[in-house]
Amino acid sequence: MKTIAIGVIGAGLIGRKHLAKIAAHPDFELVGIADVNAEQVAAQNPDARVFADYRAMLDEARPDAVIIASPNQLHAENGVECARRGIHILIEKPVTDRLETATALIEATRAAGIRSLVGHHRRHHRQVATLRALLNEGRIGDLVGVSAIWAVHKPEAYFKAAPWRTQAGGGPVLINLIHEIDFLRFSVGEIVAVGAVLSNRRRGFPVE
Ligand SMILES: NC(=O)c1ccc[n+]([C@@H]2O[C@H](COP(=O)([O-])OP(=O)(O)OC[C@H]3O[C@@H](n4cnc5c(N)ncnc54)[C@H](O)[C@@H]3O)[C@@H](O)[C@H]2O)c1
Repeated sequence: MKTIAIGVIGAGLIGRKHLAKIAAHPDFELVGIADVNAEQVAAQNPDARVFADYRAMLDEARPDAVIIASPNQLHAENGVECARRGIHILIEKPVTDRLETATALIEATRAAGIRSLVGHHRRHHRQVATLRALLNEGRIGDLVGVSAIWAVHKPEAYFKAAPWRTQAGGGPVLINLIHEIDFLRFSVGEIVAVGAVLSNRRRGFPVE
C-alpha cells in the first residue's frame, strides 16, 4: 500500500532522478509535479498531475512531503510555503542561496514542526560512514589536518542549459563545491574560518 504522498517542485536534471526513485519505491505515491515548464513536463510524465504554479500543487494535490528540486534561488520560498502548510521537505542543496534566507527557512520549519532533509546524499554513502566511524574511534589518530584539492571544469552546455546556474545564488561553489564542504563538515567538524579568492575571469558570469 502506498503510504506517503509526495510532490516534486522542479522536474529538471535532478528532479527527474527523484521522480524515477519515487516511481520505483513501493511506499511512495507521486501526487503532483510543479514546474514552470508545465507543458513539457506533462508530456514527459503523462500519468502525473502537473502544475505550473507550485502553490497550486501544494494546495490541490496536498502532498505529505515535497522534494524541492528547483533552482537554488527558489529553495527558501518553496520551503517556507511547504512549512506553512505542514508539509515535510527534502530540499536540494544548497539549503538556500543566502544565509538570511536559510535562517528564515530554518525558523519556518521549526515553527511548523515539519521534518526537513537536505540533498547532501554523500552523508549517506557507506565510505563516508566508515570514515566517520574510523575518526570517532580514534583509529586514524588525532586529526591535525586535511589536505584536499577540488577542481572541476563544467562543460559549456551545463551553463547554457540552465541560466540560473550563471547568476548570483548559482555558481560552482554553491552548486558543486557545496557537496565537498558538507562532506568535510560532516566528517571532520565545523568550519571556523574561511579565506578565499574568487574570479569570474574564465567565463565572465556574474558569479565566480
Ligand atoms: N544532490 C545533488 O547531487 C544535486 C544534483 C544536481 C542538482 N542539485 C540541486 O537541485 C536543484 C535543481 O538543479 P538542476 O540541475 O536539476 O536544475 P534544472 O535547471 O535542470 O532544473 C530546475 C527545474 O526547476 C524548474 N523551475 C524553475 N523555476 C520554477 C518555479 N518557479 N516553480 C517550479 N519549477 C521551477 C525548471 O523549469 C526546471 O525544470 C539545484 O538546487 C541544484 O543545486 C542537486
